[in-house]
Amino acid sequence: MSSPVLQIITASTRDGRKGHAVAQWVQRVAEAHGGFTVELVDLAEVALPMFDEPNHPRLGQYKHQHTRDWSATVKRADAFVFVTPEYNHSFPASLKNALDHLYSEWNHKPAGLVSYGGVSAGLRAATALKPVLSSLKIMPVIEAVSVPMFTQFLDEQGEFVPSAQVEASAKVMLDEVLKLTNALSVLRES
Ligand SMILES: Cc1cc2nc3c(=O)[nH]c(=O)nc-3n(C[C@H](O)[C@H](O)[C@H](O)COP(=O)(O)O)c2cc1C
Repeated sequence: MSSPVLQIITASTRDGRKGHAVAQWVQRVAEAHGGFTVELVDLAEVALPMFDEPNHPRLGQYKHQHTRDWSATVKRADAFVFVTPEYNHSFPASLKNALDHLYSEWNHKPAGLVSYGGVSAGLRAATALKPVLSSLKIMPVIEAVSVPMFTQFLDEQGEFVPSAQVEASAKVMLDEVLKLTNALSVLRES
């Protein structure tokens, strides 16, 4: 049996963003974990316009090709890790927009949250994200990765090299995501 597909979704899309380095680190940890087929999904590359579908996404009647492409991407996932910065005490509009575009494609899939920021470690972004995920029937796991003062872990090449403690928290999170991926597969198959 093939491994479940884990998509690591990078929320930050701005020029000069640091979040991509964080997402690339999550990708490396997830690949080393071994429980998943890992895909990095960069919302900057997905480049969705501001939500412009005439119908509620629950109907799955997408007018625009960009929504159909996004639907096909998310549909093939079994689980997600959202990598989010904190913008003004919440998660970025790019992520809300990407979530709002779809509905059933998200359902009954677990998610791990990786947040980064200043002293807050992006926790307010992660907290704001959870009810939005719940409305789409995405199940966030409690075990999260929260990185305070995250720039301390960016090396001279811009690579994210966190502490052993942060690294360990990512493995714990992925273990839990894998358990829920397996448990929820019954719901996804029905
Ligand atoms: C619009 C904006 C709002 C921000 N608000 C917060 C904030 O509320 N809390 C925080 O810890 N950092 C905040 N920051 C600083 C970010 O943590 C920092 O810029 C980080 O690099 C953003 O992630 P990114 O580089 O992946 O976009 C903000 C940055 C921007 C650009």
